[in-house]
Amino acid sequence: MDVICGVKELLHADLSGLNTFGLPSMAERLVVAESKTDVSSYFEKEQPVPSLILGGGSNLLLTRNIQGTVLKIEIPGIEVLNETSEHVYVKVGAGEVWHQFVLHAIANNWAGIENLSLIPGNVGTAPMQNIGAYGVEIKSVFHELETFLMDESRFETFSLNQCEFGYRESIFKRKLKNKAVITSVTFKLNKNPLFNTKYGAIEQELVRLGIQDLSIKAISDAVINIRQSKLPDPKKIGNSGSFFKNPVIEQTHFERLQKEFDGIVGYPAGEGSMKVAAGWLIERAGFKGKRIGNYGVHDRQALVLVNYGGAKGNEIFELSEEIISTIKKQFDIELEREVNVI
Ligand code: EPU
Repeated sequence: MDVICGVKELLHADLSGLNTFGLPSMAERLVVAESKTDVSSYFEKEQPVPSLILGGGSNLLLTRNIQGTVLKIEIPGIEVLNETSEHVYVKVGAGEVWHQFVLHAIANNWAGIENLSLIPGNVGTAPMQNIGAYGVEIKSVFHELETFLMDESRFETFSLNQCEFGYRESIFKRKLKNKAVITSVTFKLNKNPLFNTKYGAIEQELVRLGIQDLSIKAISDAVINIRQSKLPDPKKIGNSGSFFKNPVIEQTHFERLQKEFDGIVGYPAGEGSMKVAAGWLIERAGFKGKRIGNYGVHDRQALVLVNYGGAKGNEIFELSEEIISTIKKQFDIELEREVNVI
C-alpha cells in the first residue's frame, strides 16, 4: 500500500476481505487512517467526502462497487484515563477490535462489557448502533467519544446524552449519518462487577458449565458458548449478525397476533408497546434454514442471513426484500434492516 502524506492509500482496492459478509466489491480508492491526525489531515487536504467510512465491516451489506474513496479507520490504543474506587475510565481507539477489548477488560477485572463478548466489529462502530446482547447495551458503560465532524472540520467530544442512544440506534445513524468519523470511545467500567445474568440462556449455560463462583470471565465464557452455538462464525460463513431489528409494535396489535399465532415471542418495550422477536416471525414464515444457491437464512437463528461463499450483495438484498414483504403480509409488521446497505 502506498503512503501519501503519512496516510496509507490503495487504488482499486478489493473490499471482499473487509466486510464480514465476504461480499465482492471494489473501491476506487481505499485510505487507511491510523491516527486522529490522519483523519483530520485527510479532510484538510480537501479530499472529497468519503463514499464510505469503514470500521470492522461487520454491519454492512455491500451491493455494488464504490466510486470514490473508502476511509478505513484503524486507530489503535487502550489507555486508562482515570480511576476511582468504583470505576475505571478507559479510552479506546476506534480501530481496536471490539472482542479483543472485551478480553482486555476481563483480564484487568474491569466489568460491564462481559455480556457483549464476541460481537464482531470495532470499538469505533460499536456506539453507532449501540451494540447490545444478553441484556446489556454499550450505552450502559459509555462515558464519551471523540468524533471528527466533517461539515465543521473539527473534532468534538460527545457525551452520553449527545449520542441519543436507542435500541440499535444513535445520532450517528440519523442526523450525523455520513457526517462524523468516530476516532475514540471512552468507557466507564466497573471495578465492582454488577453481574447481569437475567437473560435465561446465560443462567442455563452457567449451570451447564458447573460455575460455582460467578465472575465476569464466567459470564463471558457462557456468552461465547451461546453465541458460538447459535450464530455463524463470519470467518467460516459470511454474515453480519442480526440482519433485521426486532420490531416494536403496539400492545393491542401484539395481543391480536397472540390469538392467531400460538407461541409468538415478545417483550414489553415501554408503555403500550411490545418488542417482537423477529427471528420467531421469520422462522414461523418458513424462512429458517432456507438456502438459495450460495446464500440463505441461517438454520439456527433466522435473524441472520448468510453468504455460504460466492453470493452477491444484491442477491442477499433481494432475499431480505422477500422476507420483509412476507412478514408484512402475514403479521402486518414492517421489518427494518439493522445492517447498512450500500
Ligand atoms: N427465535 C426463534 N427463532 C429464531 C430465532 C429466535 O423463535 O430463528 C426466538 C427465540 O426462541 C427467543 C427469541 O426469538 O425466544 C429471541 O431470540 P434470541 O435470544 O436469539 O435473540 P434475538 O432477539 O433474536 C437479539 C439481538 C442479538 C443478540 C441477542 C441476544 C437484535 C436485532 N438482535 O437477537 O444481536 O445477540 O438478542 O441478546 O436485537 C446482532 O445485533 O447482530 C445480534 C446478534
